[in-house]
Amino acid sequence: MRPRTKAARPEASGWKDPSLRRSVALFRAFMGEQSDPEACYRLLARDAVSQVEAYGGPVSGRTVVDIGGGGGYFLEEFRRRGADAFLFEPDPRELGEHAPEGSVRADGYLLPLADGVADVTFSSNVLEHVDDPQTFLSEMVRVTRPGGLIYVSFTNWYSPWGGHEWAPWHYLGAERARNRYRRKTGREAKHRLGDNLFTIHVGTTLRQVRARPDVRVVAARSRYWPFLAGVVTRVPLLREFATWNLLLILRRCP
Ligand SMILES: C[S@@+](CC[C@H](N)C(=O)[O-])C[C@H]1O[C@@H](n2cnc3c(N)ncnc32)[C@H](O)[C@@H]1O
Repeated sequence: MRPRTKAARPEASGWKDPSLRRSVALFRAFMGEQSDPEACYRLLARDAVSQVEAYGGPVSGRTVVDIGGGGGYFLEEFRRRGADAFLFEPDPRELGEHAPEGSVRADGYLLPLADGVADVTFSSNVLEHVDDPQTFLSEMVRVTRPGGLIYVSFTNWYSPWGGHEWAPWHYLGAERARNRYRRKTGREAKHRLGDNLFTIHVGTTLRQVRARPDVRVVAARSRYWPFLAGVVTRVPLLREFATWNLLLILRRCP
């Protein structure tokens, strides 16, 4: 087994999580996502990989599996930091014309991987796009080695961004919000509830994950909040609106 490494110190490079500065930078990038997606996703990738290193130590030399990794920004960042990283993505449109090397067209429910091959299993903003999140999680756990780290984040349904491109009108109902989007933009929305977007909740997910015998919950917190990032997920009801995006750091039990 690989010797345990000390957790990285991303603060040493000016990165501090949570912090107001970081959250503002992420929010700005997110607001510019349409005009400059590269800048937005590169920043998000740097931020997420720093979070992984903060909990699990340097990724250099480690085997990392990114599930539902879209265009490969996270893959690139993991590699830039020396990881042996692979991307599994079912949608060829997400992969783009020039799919990054080491990317595999595969569904997260059924990964073409042996048990326990990954030191780090990573999934950012995918869980709300699958209709059976617990089975999806089970597959992540299966491919993670005992003691390995699992990073999962998702936008929950009652988050202000829960309806994605038709947010925040999802609070008035998904179909109404979709129709409004079509009226305002003249385009069909990318997401449809029950098809490629599903209602997922913070409280239910936390209860399900804590009940699992195969993982230990290392952290459950808001991914982007500048303060009280862990506290906000502990308050029933409030957490469904205020968490915004739930980040779970799990360790696979031996
Ligand atoms: C919102 S994008 C997130 C992309 C990237 N991970 C990020 O954080 O920017 C959701 C991704 O989940 C992928 N996805 C949907 N269902 C999936 C499944 N069953 N297995 C793996 N990926 C899936 C989609 O194809 C898409 O690339």
